[in-house]
Amino acid sequence: MSDKPLRVGLAGLGTVGAGLVKLLADNAELVSRRANRPIVITAVSARDRTRDRGVDLSGFGWEDNAVDLAARDDVDTVVELIGGADGPALALARSALGAGKGFVTANKAMLAHHGMELAALAESTNAPLKFEAAVAGGIPVIKGMRDGLSGNRVQAVYGILNGTCNFILTAMERDGKPFADVLKEAQALGYAEADPTFDIDGIDAAHKLSILSSLAFGTKINFKGVSTCGIRSVAPADIDYASVLGYRIRLIGMARQEDGGLFQRVHPCLVPVNHPLAHVTDSLNAVVAEGNYVGRLLFQGRGAGEGPTASAVAADLVDVARGEFGPAFAMPAGSLSDVPAADPASHVGRYYIRLTVVDRPGVLAELTAILRDLSVSVESLIQRGGAPDGAVYFVLTTHAGPQQAVTEALARISALDSVTTEPVMMHILDF
Ligand code: NDP
Ligand code: HSE
Repeated sequence: MSDKPLRVGLAGLGTVGAGLVKLLADNAELVSRRANRPIVITAVSARDRTRDRGVDLSGFGWEDNAVDLAARDDVDTVVELIGGADGPALALARSALGAGKGFVTANKAMLAHHGMELAALAESTNAPLKFEAAVAGGIPVIKGMRDGLSGNRVQAVYGILNGTCNFILTAMERDGKPFADVLKEAQALGYAEADPTFDIDGIDAAHKLSILSSLAFGTKINFKGVSTCGIRSVAPADIDYASVLGYRIRLIGMARQEDGGLFQRVHPCLVPVNHPLAHVTDSLNAVVAEGNYVGRLLFQGRGAGEGPTASAVAADLVDVARGEFGPAFAMPAGSLSDVPAADPASHVGRYYIRLTVVDRPGVLAELTAILRDLSVSVESLIQRGGAPDGAVYFVLTTHAGPQQAVTEALARISALDSVTTEPVMMHILDF
C-alpha cells in the first residue's frame, strides 16, 4: 500500500458531508486497503464554524470561503456537498478542476445545468470529475450506466429517482397520511432538498434523469428538454382508484431515443402492481436500464439520506485515489451528440384520467362525445360519489393513443359546465 494519502478538502458539512466524515473515520482501514492508500480529510468548509455536527472536526483545517479549499496545498481532491446549481458550488468546481484537482460531487442540479462545461474543463486539465451520489443516492447506478453498460446500445432508462416523493407517495398509500405531514418527515430525515419544491415538483428527478440520459445515450445533457410534472396533483382519491384498477402511483423518470429525438419525461405514473417499480417503497430508488445485449437491468436501493449518499461519495474517492477515471460522461464531452428533444405531445401511451363532475343526466354522454370526437379509446370506467360538494368522480383509463388527443380532450372537457375542478391526468407505465 502506498503511504501517500489522497488529501480531501470537504465543502459542506450537512446531511451528506457529516455522513462522509463518519464513514471515512469508521471504515478508514478498509477504505485505505481498497484504495491502496489512505484517504484523509485535511480541510473543511461550511457556513457556521460553531455548529455541532456530531462529528469530530478538530483535526481538519477550516476555510470560511469554500472556494479556497481548491487552492490549498494540502488538498488533492475537493468534495462538494453544498448544493445549488450555481453559487459557491459551481465556483468551487471551476477552481478545483481548473487547477487539475479531482472533484467529487453529489450535486445533480449543478451537473444538469453545467455538467458539459465541467466535463470539458476536467478533460482539459486531466482531472477526475465524479458524481456517483448525484443520481439515486447509494445505488451505484452511475458506474453501472457509465462502465457496466458501455458495450450496449441502451434502449431506455427509467425509474424512481426521488426518495422524498417516493417516501410521500408510499406513506399516503400505506398509512393514508396527509401530504404535508409526510413531507415534514422526509425533511427531518434529511432526504429533501434545501428547497423541497425541487423534490415535489419533479425538478430533482429531472436533474437526475438528464444525467442518466447522457450516460445512456451518449448525448449532451438536456435538462430543459425534460417534460416535468411533480406529485402535487396526486390526491388520496387517485391512490385509491389506482389501487382498485391494479396500480400504484410512483413518480417515474423515463428516457428513450425515439424517431423524433430524445424523449425525457418525469411524471406521476400508474405502475401495474406486478411491475418491480410498484414494490419500491419509502426513500428507496430504482433504475431500470435496457441494453441491446444485456437485456433489462434493475438497480435498487436507498436513494437519499446520510449513510447511502456518503457511501456513493466514498466510492468515488476510492476511484480517484486509485487513479481510475476517464471522461466524466463515458466519452469525451466533445463527442456527446446533440439530439433534439422529442415532442411529448406525439408520445403514444395509456392514460389515467380523473374528472370531478356534477351528478345529472347527460353528463356522461357529453364526456364520451368529446372522447369519441378525438378518438380517445376508453379501456375502463368507474363512476363513484365522494367528490366535494355532492359531485362525483368519473375515473377512466384509456387504450394506447397519442398524448395530444388526450390533452385536447381534457381541454374541451374542463370547459364543460358539468366539470367542477381541473381534470387530473397521469400516464400508465407501459414498459
Ligand atoms: P445540507 O443542506 O444538509 O448541507 C449543506 C451544507 O453546505 C451545510 O453544511 C452548509 O453549511 C453548507 N453550505 C451552504 N452554503 C455554503 C457556502 N456558501 N460555503 C460553504 N458551505 C456552505 O445538504 P445535503 O447534505 O442534504 O446535500 C448536499 C448535496 O448533496 C446537495 O447537492 C444535494 O442535492 C446532494 N444530495 C443530497 C442527498 C440527501 O439525501 N440529503 C442525496 C443525494 C444528493 P452549514 O451547515 O454551516 O449551514
Ligand atoms: N432530495 C433527493 C431525494 C435527495 O429525495 O431523492 C437524493 O438525491
